[in-house]
Amino acid sequence: MSRAGFLAEGTETPVFVRFSTVLGSRGSADTVRDTRGFAVKFYTDEGTFDLVGNNMPVFFIQDGIKFPDVIHAAKPHPDREIPQAQSAHDTFWDFVSLHTEAQHHTMWNMSDRGIQASFRTMEGFGVHTFRLVDAEGSTTLAKFHWKPRAGVHSLVWEEAQLAAGGDPDFHRRDLADAIEAGFHPQWELGVQTFPDTPEQMFEGIDLLDPTKLVPEELAPVQPIGLMTLTANPTNFFAETEQVAFHLGHLVPGIDVTNDPLLQARLFSYLDTQLTRLGGPNFDQIPVNRAHAPVNDMLRDGFHQHAVHSGVAPYRPNSLDGGCPFQAGADLDGYVEVPAVVEQAQKVRAVARSFDDHYSQAWLFFRSMTPVEKDHIIGAYTFELSKCYEQVIRERQLQCLANIDTELCEAVARGLGMPVPAATIPLEDVSPSPALSQVGTPFPVDGRKLGIVVDEGSDMGSVAAMVEAARSSNLVPFVIAPRGGTIGDLVADRTYATARSFEYDALVLAGAAAPAVDAVPSLDARGGDPASAGASADPRIPLIVGEVWRHCKVLGVLGDPAARVLAGAGVPSEGAGVVVEQDPAEMVASVVALLSLHRVWDRFVPQSA
Ligand code: HEM
Repeated sequence: MSRAGFLAEGTETPVFVRFSTVLGSRGSADTVRDTRGFAVKFYTDEGTFDLVGNNMPVFFIQDGIKFPDVIHAAKPHPDREIPQAQSAHDTFWDFVSLHTEAQHHTMWNMSDRGIQASFRTMEGFGVHTFRLVDAEGSTTLAKFHWKPRAGVHSLVWEEAQLAAGGDPDFHRRDLADAIEAGFHPQWELGVQTFPDTPEQMFEGIDLLDPTKLVPEELAPVQPIGLMTLTANPTNFFAETEQVAFHLGHLVPGIDVTNDPLLQARLFSYLDTQLTRLGGPNFDQIPVNRAHAPVNDMLRDGFHQHAVHSGVAPYRPNSLDGGCPFQAGADLDGYVEVPAVVEQAQKVRAVARSFDDHYSQAWLFFRSMTPVEKDHIIGAYTFELSKCYEQVIRERQLQCLANIDTELCEAVARGLGMPVPAATIPLEDVSPSPALSQVGTPFPVDGRKLGIVVDEGSDMGSVAAMVEAARSSNLVPFVIAPRGGTIGDLVADRTYATARSFEYDALVLAGAAAPAVDAVPSLDARGGDPASAGASADPRIPLIVGEVWRHCKVLGVLGDPAARVLAGAGVPSEGAGVVVEQDPAEMVASVVALLSLHRVWDRFVPQSA
């Protein structure tokens, strides 16, 4: 379908990837509710190809001229420059409730996709429809997807908030640690393909409308490659900070379409990079250099590092043998797909097919499992509660009424507001189960297992569990009352430094007797020592309670540990609570439950 050399069977291509957030300034917390950037630079033999995507398949706007509007609305308020890195404020909701084409993307942000568990478990999307060109010049329309081999997983909202305070670098640390530990994250590169018809529609969906996705049930994602991240940057500033992605970095075999958002992006990125990177020669910064040989007529300018030879950087010339000249099809150079331009009037207006702002938001909500619907309801309610202007809340509730009655009623209940009637009748849509993150088992490689021990723990048993965890590709963290060694093991965390959000699963392997630095009567995190239970260090029941609430797997190894569980008010027969005497069996049970990410059936969802 594409003549791009790097997509050919068996070809290996170096890449550089930058994951990013949209809303926050540099240094803001990783786990805030936001869209994430997923930008990949392929250093191919035929030149650089950049796939500059997001972790959501749709965007807020259909026309690039509105990009400053959506960014200004979502960024902190200009007067006080707060709130930092969040959408829970008036200007964001003012914009998306007035500019209703943003409703579908907003729904993704309010869903679990807005609070990814890690970059390693994040899906990526090229969003726009691109055009693939084969060796004969035949074309196919395509949407690019990145499917993480480790599955698509998210945080829960309380956990995201805790992590934002406890470890603002949560996602970056996780990725760097995993790569360093040899758990190299992998994504399958896939394409949904569509016939390149003059209308550029597929099953009634306008392929040039970036607020629309094509359900995978209608167009399956076909794998065409595998990306493995094998190394961390050597120097963050030189590489991650200075890398410059651009949608115009194309290779023969991949072309753009007339998606108006894509067309605007083709102008915008260079504009900003000229300023951000201090002038025109940023393509000579090592991370931005093409690996294929480059021979162009660009000369001089700030920060010129190349020492160009020759006297004739112009064309045509006879002094340098006619070089450089533009390679055409005869030399396998890049040739844009010739476009047929119909005789028509050129006007500034959107196509009628762009008018539908609600049906795919409904499609998304309908495709969620009850627990995912609960999370969406909770997110809308939380965010709108943070707005000051009642009129904005009312307007957004009106949008929700046009999307889904159940969603609107539940959010209105939380806000204490009346439920508006829908103003736009919806056509029925079929759900797309592929949009849900729940229910598919995935490998647990690199997932983190906290193991709480104390001086009285059976450390032989703990050592066996650590060993079994490592053999199952989990990363065990021994959480001990103090630093140093305990038994033959090194304490990876202490009761003072451990927080629940760091672990995907937790095993209690002891009574968690109060550590020397425990102050039960004063420890704000522990709360009331009497309710925290028996004689446990108050910080451990706190962690156990969060692990329970966040639907994480909880293990109990031995009787003293069972007392901690009881003290924390967690039922030992609760869903996802594993009570075991044998360390290997414990790890096997944890792995089985963890492969589904969380124990969602621990709590009854409120949604149908
Ligand atoms: C489908 C919609 C869009 C997606 C998926 C997207 C994705 C991204 C990503 C991933 C980045 C960070 C790139 C990096 O790490 O260097 C980025 C940056 C940026 N985006 Fe977009 N974007 C979209 C729409 C737009 C539009 C419509 C505009 C403007 C018309 C725009 C302008 C920019 C600019 C100016 C930057 C900063 C680039 C730099 O400083 O290097 N984006 N975008």
